Amino acid sequence: YKRVTVKSLVEMKANKEKISMLTAYDFTMASIVDGAGIDVILVGDSAANTMAGHETTLPITLDQMIYHASSVIRGINRSLVVVDLPFGSYQSDPKEALRSAIRIMKESGAHALKLEGGKEIKDSIKRILNAGIPVMGHLGLTPQSIYKFGTYTVRAKEEAEAEKLKADAKMLEKIGCFAVVLEKVPAKLAKEVAESISIPVIGIGAGNGVDGQVLVVHDMLGMTHEFNPRFLRRYLDLHTEMTNAFAAYHKDVKSGDFPNENEQY
Ligand code: KIV
Ligand code: NA
Repeated sequence: YKRVTVKSLVEMKANKEKISMLTAYDFTMASIVDGAGIDVILVGDSAANTMAGHETTLPITLDQMIYHASSVIRGINRSLVVVDLPFGSYQSDPKEALRSAIRIMKESGAHALKLEGGKEIKDSIKRILNAGIPVMGHLGLTPQSIYKFGTYTVRAKEEAEAEKLKADAKMLEKIGCFAVVLEKVPAKLAKEVAESISIPVIGIGAGNGVDGQVLVVHDMLGMTHEFNPRFLRRYLDLHTEMTNAFAAYHKDVKSGDFPNENEQY
């Protein structure tokens, strides 16, 4: 294997090779995702939803993100591992942002970090970049600001918000981010942004005109089944498969069929 680096991602864009990215939050999942050849593993703060059952991503802490990230790092050989800075760990001032960033890098062994937002957090991103830590931006629907938006609907449909998003993307490129996630924005706008900057744009619900795609692993495996956005393609129906497996085990235990003669000492 050849390790994926932030440099290889920028090269992939230049060579028009699309970038694959999935989330993972634990060792076992990360080792399977890495072994399948996925370019980038995101230790997303969506762990607040998928792993902890919170309704939003706001409650997850820096310590919890470090736990998930260090578990993922132990499972990988090739993928680039990007970790979300959680809500509250970078918004108050650039020094605190850098302290949080350093903690994740030191305590988990992550390769890069992701922060939500544009010019509001420019100084924090610059501080982190100055310390030699690669940063991925995240624009469009930014779930840590859910109470400002009020809903999880498509962002930047109006001209003013679209213009701000385009300017933010250019700014992120200019200050030295290596990539940017665009979440839930019109495909036409996402394509325009991808064509306007030289760093890769990774989309989720942002159409096919971008440089790569990301999905939450529990969603694409069909483990979750009440979350049904248009952009989600399910590659398995694990919710049904797992339910059937658990029910079969339950039945076998109740009937005394499990364990059989060959399954005991
Ligand atoms: O936390 C997450 O899973 C994310 C992706 C959806 C981009 O930020
Ligand atoms: Na996230």
